[in-house]
Amino acid sequence: MANTSGLFSPTVPSLRKRIPPSIGVYRFSFCPSERFSKRIFCSSIIEGPEKLGSGVSPSESRVPKLVSRGCKLVGCGSAVPKLQVSNDDLAKIVDTSDEWISVRTGIRNRRVLTGKDNLTTLAIEASRKALQMAEVDPDEVDLVLLCTSTPEDLFGSAPQIQKALGCKSNPLAYDITAACSGFVLGLVSAACYIRGGGFNNVLVIGADALSRYVDWTDRGTCILFGDAAGAIVVQACDSEEDGLFGFDLHSDGDGQRHLNATIQENEIDQALGSNGSVLGFPPVPPSYSCIQMNGKEVFRFAVRCVPQSIESALEKAGLATSSIDWLLLHQANQRIIDAVATRLEVPPERVISNLANYGNTSAASIPLALDEAVRGGKVQPGHTIAAAGFGAGLTWGSAIIRWG
Ligand code: ACO
Repeated sequence: MANTSGLFSPTVPSLRKRIPPSIGVYRFSFCPSERFSKRIFCSSIIEGPEKLGSGVSPSESRVPKLVSRGCKLVGCGSAVPKLQVSNDDLAKIVDTSDEWISVRTGIRNRRVLTGKDNLTTLAIEASRKALQMAEVDPDEVDLVLLCTSTPEDLFGSAPQIQKALGCKSNPLAYDITAACSGFVLGLVSAACYIRGGGFNNVLVIGADALSRYVDWTDRGTCILFGDAAGAIVVQACDSEEDGLFGFDLHSDGDGQRHLNATIQENEIDQALGSNGSVLGFPPVPPSYSCIQMNGKEVFRFAVRCVPQSIESALEKAGLATSSIDWLLLHQANQRIIDAVATRLEVPPERVISNLANYGNTSAASIPLALDEAVRGGKVQPGHTIAAAGFGAGLTWGSAIIRWG
């Protein structure tokens, strides 16, 4: 691939293989692993729409399913701020200790944005690395999805990334807000755009700077979070090479009381008239409160819902848990990761974890850990990964994917 910007380094392993888009529309069921079964093509007479629709919500993938062409993951990248904050550093500002934090969470360090660092710049750096690995020129990108709950522009930061990358054809770029589940939602959205919308190269970025919304006097939350960005390139391919085998997505607004960062209530009060019944005018520009979290409830929710979601996605993919090469969860707490792995009977050596170094980086955590695992040689082309995000909303979801 020509490199007009000098962006591409010959040392980055390439997964790229040009495949003409398929033109037929097939309805089929399949097991993506050759270890289990061969792909089966079915006609719509065998699986009618009434059967496909019965009891299955649109946010759940189906087997069999309608896929005109496939999508695959062909590049990844990540970026973190320079400033590293250790548990001992935190013990200087709140009543805590390295032992308490590492035993209860598995976290030892986190990165925090400071000074002139900003999240958009991190997202751009991660995106450039992902495009470089994928050997995709910015001009070939036809969609940029920025999964973040902490954009630097209320109206969304994705267009700024598109501009900085130099995507000359003005491809669509927008933000997706779903906290720590954002990246999984972005990945599934990218697949939908590619499979059904004719898009070819979708850049999915997970980036968050929760340090800006942490109460640094609250030892129950400030120890958990860090800032980072990760990105992947999802590319159109022949349907037989499709690398998203199954997915499962959920929300529960009732659980929002356990984890939120809402508009500050005193500012809503000021916006009301003196008798509380008439809207005040002009409104007071609001600001958001720091992260409020009931850690125990969030812990219980994650340990209960994440294994169910992964099992559901695996079932839709037609795969057994034993067939996954890697379990890659949102990096929130090592005890959550261990509990989910135990429940799914995935041995520790097949679990990807890097939260000791970065803490909970929200939407960035999955692509950040994936990028480290790919560049470190753990995750190889053809490996099957069960990825799951969970967090505020509440939202949670899983995707069974193949790398490369
Ligand atoms: N250092 C020392 N002691 C502490 C600290 C700390 N940093 N934080 C709390 N404690 C104390 C508490 O005050 C309490 O003391 P007490 O017994 O005298 O009252 C004791 O330790 C136990 O506190 P718990 O809150 O019960 O501790 P728990 O074992 O539940 O661990 C934690 C807390 C780590 C937050 C855990 O609940 C957790 O990880 N929950 C999940 C959070 C999560 O995953 N969030 C992800 C979503 S984020 C997103 O979507 C934006």
